[in-house]
Amino acid sequence: MMLKGRSLLEPSDFSVEEIESLFGLAGRIMDAPSDYSEVCRGRLLATLFYEPSTRTRFSFEAAMLRLGGQVIGFSEPGSSSVAKGESIADTIKTVACYADIAVIRHPKEGAPRVAAMSTDMPVINAGDGGHQHPTQTLTDLLTVKRARGGFENLTVGVCGDLKFGRTVHSLIKALARYSGVSFVLISPQELMVPEYVRKEVLKKTASPFRETENLLDVISELDVLYMTRVQRERFFNEEDYIRLKDSYILDAEKMRGARRDMMVLHPLPRVNEIAAEVDSDPRAFYFKQAQNGMYIRMALIMALLGIKE
Ligand code: NCD
Repeated sequence: MMLKGRSLLEPSDFSVEEIESLFGLAGRIMDAPSDYSEVCRGRLLATLFYEPSTRTRFSFEAAMLRLGGQVIGFSEPGSSSVAKGESIADTIKTVACYADIAVIRHPKEGAPRVAAMSTDMPVINAGDGGHQHPTQTLTDLLTVKRARGGFENLTVGVCGDLKFGRTVHSLIKALARYSGVSFVLISPQELMVPEYVRKEVLKKTASPFRETENLLDVISELDVLYMTRVQRERFFNEEDYIRLKDSYILDAEKMRGARRDMMVLHPLPRVNEIAAEVDSDPRAFYFKQAQNGMYIRMALIMALLGIKE
């Protein structure tokens, strides 16, 4: 793997083969975690979270700790010099004096890229505004791969806030590289995928896609249903959010119309869009996703630090 020293800002920064090799490493770590419990001894991961997070930050920190490394960082930018007006470039240059690798979540699109351009240290984008979230995509892909064996010829339904949902943009970008993947984009008119995703990803890769407002009309055709939360924090006004927030609620009744092997994914956190009764359905994979997230991040940290097995 030639990922040593590189940054991960968007899914397309890594080739399909490189992502495949990360899945391989994640699988080996899952099979024998104790073989990897010391490989990052003496290494330090910094987590710079300018936005709330549960899974992404905890899974990165757990990943580094389980590799024998250590972690520093903030989850409240108000407690660091950011509050004094320090730029992201200066912050990352400083962090690079202490840490070996950094993970950044930021409300501004492109902020992790600015950080990566300001340092030689590997920088991982853990979500930049409504733009991209490549490590969630690695988690999503690993979950599908382990359940279905691969991605070829899948019909993937993506449902909810396709406009502001960064996990959606990264997922489509990554899956559009596999042959025969077709997309069914399910959202209210106001929350359709941004034009750049339609033009630069879907049309450019000639991926078949359809857009609809109605989940029930299409649920029976799907191999994967990727549900998402309406991204309240990206809305300009609360009334629009309230009007759109419950556009889709996946429940046991709707699941009856789905294939017996359709996978339900969700990056979490969920608000209302999946009823709790679906959790016990064997087709619900969202907590599995959260678990896989730690293993793929262990593999990613090892690869970017150039740590040999
Ligand atoms: C997602 C995010 O932050 O974009 N969460 C996550 O990382 N698992 C999804 C969301 O917040 O809706």
